[in-house]
Amino acid sequence: METKSKKIYVETYGCQMNMADTEVVLGVLDGIGYKPTKDAASADLILVNTCSVRDNAELRAHKRVSELKEHKRRNPEVLIGVLGCMAERLRTTLVEKNNLVDLVVGPDEYRKLPKLIEDAYAGQRGIAVKLSRVENYDDVTPLRTEGISAWLSVMRGCDKFCTFCVVPFTRGRERSRSLKSIVEEVRKLSAQGFKEVSLLGQNVNSYHDGEYDFADLLKSVAEVDSTMRIRYTTSHPQDMSDKLIETIATHDNICKYVHLPVQSGSNRILKLMNRTYTIERYLGLMEKVKRSMPDASFSTDIIAGFPTETGEDHQMTLDILKQVKYDGAYMFKYSPRENTKAWDMGDDVAEELKVERLNEIIELQNGIAFDINQLLIGKNVEVLIERDSSRSADDLMGRTDTNKKTVFPRGNATVGEIRKVKIERANAQTLIGKLVPNMN
Ligand code: SAH
Ligand code: SF4
Ligand code: F3S
Repeated sequence: METKSKKIYVETYGCQMNMADTEVVLGVLDGIGYKPTKDAASADLILVNTCSVRDNAELRAHKRVSELKEHKRRNPEVLIGVLGCMAERLRTTLVEKNNLVDLVVGPDEYRKLPKLIEDAYAGQRGIAVKLSRVENYDDVTPLRTEGISAWLSVMRGCDKFCTFCVVPFTRGRERSRSLKSIVEEVRKLSAQGFKEVSLLGQNVNSYHDGEYDFADLLKSVAEVDSTMRIRYTTSHPQDMSDKLIETIATHDNICKYVHLPVQSGSNRILKLMNRTYTIERYLGLMEKVKRSMPDASFSTDIIAGFPTETGEDHQMTLDILKQVKYDGAYMFKYSPRENTKAWDMGDDVAEELKVERLNEIIELQNGIAFDINQLLIGKNVEVLIERDSSRSADDLMGRTDTNKKTVFPRGNATVGEIRKVKIERANAQTLIGKLVPNMN
């Protein structure tokens, strides 16, 4: 089959793991001559890498696939594929419902893409949705399209089984790449000029390669290149060991930004969620982290309206936000997912009440983040410049070590540099300032 110089267009939804997987897919398909394009209309192969975490994520993907089916009706030679968590969750129903979809491929089957594409050209629709206990794409070189910040999946899957969550079903069991191979890849990224690496896993701090844990991994990665910023996501409170806190605190290039999802402030709800910690333990952990890293910033995930949540439970969530004072939070309305344990608990918090509680949470959190950011006005922060600002061509956008988005007039600065910026204004999400002139 002639596949030379064919064009592939991929759209990615969901978490950073999915973004990293898209680069793995592009890496696999590069091997058979597919080159990425940003223009869907000119592509020979269109892939949608999907997310299932909440119902609205799936609705968006369905809508997108329907639009692409229209495109295929007019261009029958185009191949369309659905990848990722929704492919894994819906499997054959996805093909039955969408008879113009040629490929349905789950997160552990991307190596099969070349064969599936060949079959699809031969007129045979392909489904590959087996989950694996070992697949970690260790030997696939991801095709990275951006040169500053690299994603690197260090573990896959999740064994926590929070009762609301589809991830253990769409991503399968936990497995880790070897420390040695990760360090080797970071060495290459450093040589290629990358300035930042984000180590990724659904439960990144439960990383264990049989010999080394996540603290060992972070330490080894941080020591590859002391000028390279190291980030990691997402951590689970249960696996936030003292050794890990110490490792983050004692390495300057490990970013002082700690994302620790709490989900709810009520012990009763946490138990129903199977989160494995109590609020008291969580707060103790936060205290420890704050003590060892006084300048760190914090963020969390919150779910509003979990089954049986009362006004009192909701109040406890608001109290936690007030007590911890997070720099940021990802806040969601509970979305029932079929086949999870919480699905059987019923979705008994009325929609209007969920919306009301979520809005209250967002409003409170925005106020807290706004106040925290005001304290930075007049101060200098160090920013790794990522790209042009989306708001103005005259401005650049970068992030502080503490993961705060910072916008400033470009002056003589360039993307990829670390520069000092003096903060002049701030809102809940963004710092706005001016370059501090370089002394050298
Ligand atoms: N593995 C990560 C996050 C996974 S999904 C962790 O445990 O922290 C990201 C966030 O989506 C979760 O932390 C949770 O807040 C939210 N989420 C997951 N399932 C959800 C559901 N069914 N409804 C609403 N929010 C959900
Ligand atoms: Fe989902 Fe819980 Fe696993 Fe996070 S830890 S991916 S919320 S099951
Ligand atoms: Fe979504 Fe799958 Fe990530 S469900 S959040 S894309 S692991």
